Amino acid sequence: MKSWVQSHLNVGLIVGVLFVVLTYLLVWQQAATTGGTRVVTTVAQWLVDKQLSEGEGSSEKVVTNGAQQIVDKQLIQAPSETEAVTTKVMCSTEERLSDYCELDGDVRIRGRAWSVDVVPPSWSSERRAWKIRPYSRRSATHVDTLNVTQLQGPGGAPACTVTYSKPAIIFALGGYSGNVFHDHADVLLPLFYLSRQYGREVQLLVINRVQPWWLGKYRLALRAMSRYDVVNLDGDTHVRCFRRVTVGLRLHKDFGIVPERVPGVRLAMPDFTRFLREAYGLPRGAAANPAREPRRRPRLMLIQRQPHRRFLNEREIVRAAEEAGFEVAVTELRIDAAVDEQAPLVNSFDAILGLHGAGMTNEVFLPPGGVLIQVVPLGKLDLMARVEYGEPATEMGLKYLCYNITVQESSLLETLGPDDPAITDPDSVHRRGWAALYDIYLTKQDVRLDIARFSLTLAEAMDHLRRQ
Ligand SMILES: *[C@@H]1O[C@H](CO)[C@@H](O)[C@H](O)[C@H]1NC(C)=O
Ligand SMILES: *[C@@H]1O[C@H](CO)[C@@H](O)[C@H](O)[C@H]1NC(C)=O
Repeated sequence: MKSWVQSHLNVGLIVGVLFVVLTYLLVWQQAATTGGTRVVTTVAQWLVDKQLSEGEGSSEKVVTNGAQQIVDKQLIQAPSETEAVTTKVMCSTEERLSDYCELDGDVRIRGRAWSVDVVPPSWSSERRAWKIRPYSRRSATHVDTLNVTQLQGPGGAPACTVTYSKPAIIFALGGYSGNVFHDHADVLLPLFYLSRQYGREVQLLVINRVQPWWLGKYRLALRAMSRYDVVNLDGDTHVRCFRRVTVGLRLHKDFGIVPERVPGVRLAMPDFTRFLREAYGLPRGAAANPAREPRRRPRLMLIQRQPHRRFLNEREIVRAAEEAGFEVAVTELRIDAAVDEQAPLVNSFDAILGLHGAGMTNEVFLPPGGVLIQVVPLGKLDLMARVEYGEPATEMGLKYLCYNITVQESSLLETLGPDDPAITDPDSVHRRGWAALYDIYLTKQDVRLDIARFSLTLAEAMDHLRRQ
């Protein structure tokens, strides 16, 4: 008896899912043929995406309630369009980096209450609730969580005060943002690959003590993702209603794209850097090739940090780079630099040379075919350096060159002495945790490059530009 019920339930579920898929495709096709389409994601893509993430042990939960007509519009104050609403709630909380939800249906957002409600059109489903940190890294535990709730029925839902026909993306700032690496890796990149499916027809909603300067700093990139002003949900007393909402940003990796996971379209890192070049009006889409243009010396930007992790023998390094055939400029990148001034400057170079740190993020503005030379200080930092900047550089179509310094090139040898555990046993510092590691290797260390040794890396960089 039980198995009969079970198998019927299963059949019912499969039929239900197929029905939803069909209805969804129909609605999608109708929208497409009437020219009013906003939903560009296909169900097929959504399912593939879901399978991919389930494949890595995620516990995504999918609820499909079927395509249900809105029974009583007045009662539930649904968004303006009156076609069938499919309620579909998918929340993921077990991926390595991010928590996020994809919500389809009658979705109501209350910024001041940090809550997002999905309102089913009739009383049937169970109540389900998630706490989603809308910053893309779950590890940013100082960012509050949003209550995402699928209500049991239409009653008790807050009445909409603003109704939108376009889809929405909710994301948090704070977290690690404000650091230029995290601005790009945690916010701009995931926003880019999530929003592409909508053209620019998407409403961005931001929350968590939003600093106006952040939105101002990246306004050109944000404007290229959405034609609408970003809505700040902090203290927002409206009930904003949408048919489709993504809560939180999903990171595929620390700084990168897994093309198969991009909803609706296939994108990779070169698409992201092309997008940035378009957003900032950067002219150069290819690095100089000295083999083809012998009179033009490739340009190398040497990034000096302030006040730590500096190159102590800057002038010798500049001379060596010039001898290798580069035209060299030294830049002191400031944290408050305007991106729309800095991006064109970086784009005028063919190579970047710098000590490991957020300044390396400028690689996104280099023309493809260019070179990133990352000098990795003492302290077993090479993995971090490679994951944050090296692998992304390769994926962007740049040549990545890593230069591990020797003990003799580190200022720590002099300041701590040769017997200090920080010199003899970096693992012991790692075991003491991030704060110790940061304090010793990232704030107290400067570097004096061994010019003879480093010249080999410079030659390799020039060789790459010649042969690209
Ligand atoms: C969010 O959920 C928690 C329970 O997990 C609840 O105590 C809190 O009141 C909820 N906040 C809102 C605004 O609904
Ligand atoms: C730098 O060091 C790491 C391990 O310490 C090594 O895997 C990598 O190959 C080194 N890179 C270079 C260019 O020497």
